[in-house]
Amino acid sequence: MKLFLDTANLEHIKEAVSWGIIDGVTTNPSLIRQAASVMRNAAGETDMENYIKNILAIAGRTRPVSLEVAGLTDDEMFDQGMRLYETFNQVTGNVIIKIPVCTVSSNGCIDIFAGIKAISRLDDERVPVNATLVFTPEQALLAAKAGADYVSPFAGRVDDRIRRLAGMTFNKADYFPLDGLQRDDKTGCAIEDYGLVSGIDLIESISTIFDQYEIETEIIAASIRNPIQVREAALAGADIATMPFDVMRGMVQHPGTAEGMDTFTADLVPEYLALFKRPGKKSN
Ligand code: E4P
Repeated sequence: MKLFLDTANLEHIKEAVSWGIIDGVTTNPSLIRQAASVMRNAAGETDMENYIKNILAIAGRTRPVSLEVAGLTDDEMFDQGMRLYETFNQVTGNVIIKIPVCTVSSNGCIDIFAGIKAISRLDDERVPVNATLVFTPEQALLAAKAGADYVSPFAGRVDDRIRRLAGMTFNKADYFPLDGLQRDDKTGCAIEDYGLVSGIDLIESISTIFDQYEIETEIIAASIRNPIQVREAALAGADIATMPFDVMRGMVQHPGTAEGMDTFTADLVPEYLALFKRPGKKSN
């Protein structure tokens, strides 16, 4: 399974690259906005082009970086996708264009297939696409048929929607059971959002469909909120999980490991430590 970092924070990308385990980076307009405060120069201006080039350079040639378009129509998204790709892919050859699977919301867009059309047109130009804001297996299937290289089901946000349906107050990082939340009415039924009981259910359903029809589009489990969700996404068949920096940090830690380290450190005998005092190869 590949692990992507879901951030536009240069320091976080740099540090995660130094761990030697990240395979790519995903950004979105909200993540770029969060990072914007540190992008400003002394005059309060943002050199966005340079900033994006830094993200690509730090990620390096082998790690794909998703950059999202801002338009709503298929013409806008296609033109912006081409422009992003032509401007930035020449830096390190690692750009993936992120296209919302459907751009209709309260924004006035009326073409419900604009996202799918833009994916298809970019695919015709051999521009790699990550279809984002996927909330159902049907959307994932349409994006894959349009030629998307990746689909990004938003697991955490499905869980948020179900918790809101249940009237719960919650912190986004709280664990959400993969089998969902049972209704209070003793029917034994789980609360559903478009027939899904959890974000992991969404990933598992997409994975089953893609396997069944030998669809090669890769599944990026997105909107990941905690390390256990990464484990569940892996078990559910996601090819990739993209996650915030702190979730990735959380994956390596466990109290048992810390206790074990305390014991092993306390038990070290001088004769064993002497082994490391002999001249040998030093790291840089
Ligand atoms: C995916 O590519 C998105 O950037 C991201 O995972 C959204 O996560 P959020 O729901 O935590 O904002």
